[in-house]
Amino acid sequence: MKKTVPKIVSLKNDRVISMMTAYDYPSAKAVSEAEIDIILVGDSLAQVVLGHDDTLSVTMDEMLHHVKAVTRAKPVSLVVADMPYMSFHSTPKETLHNASRFIQEGKADGVKLEGGSKRKNMIEALVNAEIPVMGHLGLTPQSKNVMGGYKIQGRTLELATQLLEDAITLESLGCFAIVLEGVPSIVAETVTENISIPTIGIGAGVKVDGQVLVYHDLIGMKSKEYIDAKFVKRYSNQYENVVDSMKSFKNDIEKQTFPTENHSYDAGELTENNIKEWKKEVKKILS
Ligand code: KIV
Repeated sequence: MKKTVPKIVSLKNDRVISMMTAYDYPSAKAVSEAEIDIILVGDSLAQVVLGHDDTLSVTMDEMLHHVKAVTRAKPVSLVVADMPYMSFHSTPKETLHNASRFIQEGKADGVKLEGGSKRKNMIEALVNAEIPVMGHLGLTPQSKNVMGGYKIQGRTLELATQLLEDAITLESLGCFAIVLEGVPSIVAETVTENISIPTIGIGAGVKVDGQVLVYHDLIGMKSKEYIDAKFVKRYSNQYENVVDSMKSFKNDIEKQTFPTENHSYDAGELTENNIKEWKKEVKKILS
């Protein structure tokens, strides 16, 4: 059965919520079949699919293209589209325009955006337009230039308090859940205990309401050296499997063990004789 926003909210204090990124039709199919609660079409698309160094370069149009591919898979999971950098930073009107494209054209069920009380006006505009909003606090990759890199956030009493206040603000603005990324476990636990909407952690310890990972990190679809974040658990080695498959294909075609008769089409109504005649005709035409 299709997961809904109220269903996800009701899972707090019931069971752990699962969230996974997906960026296209096959990954959405797989995530849905695994009955993951939420698919996030994350702006991590920029790095894991489009090959950029960070998330700042991915555009609204690129994100929308992938949101559409994901929703074509008709996943049972709730689909949340990630608002890319500069799609929600100027005015509430522009933010609403961009988010509504994800809902109307992309058929997403909600949107996610990074940042706390700074984004108050933008979140209000979306909530007033009946667009479910997921917040994102802590290590917000779109702020990497301000943070001076991908640094764990909330490691002083002042910063931890600021994070808690931001979480309370996001709840009061009407967000239905909050991603907590790259924060000390004790801070994530304290935030989780003090708000009534679910928290979904990535590098935020165990005591949160849900967990999220990036699809390509989980299936091992990058070369090993890229998978270096402490919070990642690799569940399979798809990159190596794909490279092995490519090597086997190359080997097969060089040795002519593929394709075999079983992979080829028979001549249908063509007989040996009319093939001979046809070849003669071809020679004549070419001479
Ligand atoms: O873009 C993304 O994949 C994310 C998750 C890591 C939460 O924002």
